[in-house]
Amino acid sequence: MSGCGGGGGATTPAAPPPVGTPPPPPPPVSNAPATGLLRDTFRNNFQVGTAITNANAQSSSASADLAVDQFGMITPEYELKLNNIAPNEGSLDFAEADDLVDWAIGNNMTVRGHALVWHAATPDYFLQGSPADIRLRLEDYIAAVMDHFRGRITIWDVANEVVSVDLYRGDEGIGPDRRSNWFEAVGNADYLDWAFRAARAADPTAQLFLSEYETENAFKRRWVIEILQRFADRGVPIDGVGHQFHLNLDTDPALALAAIDDVDNQFMGLVNHITELDLSFYRDPGTCWESETNCIADIGPTAPDGMLATQAQILRDLFTGFVQRSSVDVVNFWGVKDDDSWLNDVPVERYNYPLLFDRGGDPKPAFLAITDPSYVI
Ligand code: G3I
Repeated sequence: MSGCGGGGGATTPAAPPPVGTPPPPPPPVSNAPATGLLRDTFRNNFQVGTAITNANAQSSSASADLAVDQFGMITPEYELKLNNIAPNEGSLDFAEADDLVDWAIGNNMTVRGHALVWHAATPDYFLQGSPADIRLRLEDYIAAVMDHFRGRITIWDVANEVVSVDLYRGDEGIGPDRRSNWFEAVGNADYLDWAFRAARAADPTAQLFLSEYETENAFKRRWVIEILQRFADRGVPIDGVGHQFHLNLDTDPALALAAIDDVDNQFMGLVNHITELDLSFYRDPGTCWESETNCIADIGPTAPDGMLATQAQILRDLFTGFVQRSSVDVVNFWGVKDDDSWLNDVPVERYNYPLLFDRGGDPKPAFLAITDPSYVI
């Protein structure tokens, strides 16, 4: 036995195949990127994450495998929302969220908590009673949830989509605050102050975010800034702004990057997270979102090369801008593969191609464009 611990002695070479034997087929061409290529490309700039559901994670799906292979962070797409944790008064069900959070941590990924307050995920009971009743219920809920995940989740979307939607009314509207179920039940937007103060008290080490869509729209962004200024005036604790960036192929990247610059220029010290990045292949009129009318026709099961190239160029320009802005700490896609996306069902059911990986799990031109500077779009 040789001293190296391996077996000693010569081996007999395999007999050559009989004359005329066809050569073995070439190994299958794999389009799979090198493990960790996406997160490592931006490791010195920001974390790259993705939304994923517990159902996807626990089924060892292609999306789950890709998430582990390429991303460094996840955002539970649904499991941490109030209507999933506390669908009924008096009980908290963390089961699905625990499974997903522990799966992520077990795969060396960090977790963005999304979201403590969101009008679209608030059971009716939660807003019953007086403002004082609602405040107590909210403070107790936030304390319980953040205590439960302490040490496992250190970033929270405390409030999601709380800015006025009067943008669509074509006038100054009644901003800055969204007249949501929360606003109507409390009578004003003080619930935001309550939520952020409760979150800071629950876990002083956590980073607290206000997350909003269409911050790339300067009109709407003025209202975001107004709310941030009110927080500053009142001493409401906040650490950053989440820009959802649900964009499309008509998006001018400069407008999205201007949203980051506005926060930087007026609220130095706040960080910027991109929280729900995707690029829809449709730019529908408002009536499609409001009443599913006048929607753009379904592109069908094959994404046109020209649209894939446009998506690749926009994402290359966006990521170049994100890298140049030191306040950008996270870029989180809202899904892994195109068929994971909410945009296949909303505003109407049709094929969409908003993400980095196609339905077969292969990287799209957009993935190549942001990870390989030499890639020609
Ligand atoms: O997991 C349950 C499953 O057990 C059940 O059988 C099924 C039928 O009821 O529902 C499943 O839960 C669904 C969940 O997605 C997971 O797939 C919920 O019904 C469905 O409402 C939920 O939709 C999510 C939506 O937020 C509402 O929470 C979407 O996946 C998610 O992409 C979407 O994400 C939002 C962000 O939170 C905020 N910004 C906009 C974005 C898109 O709407």
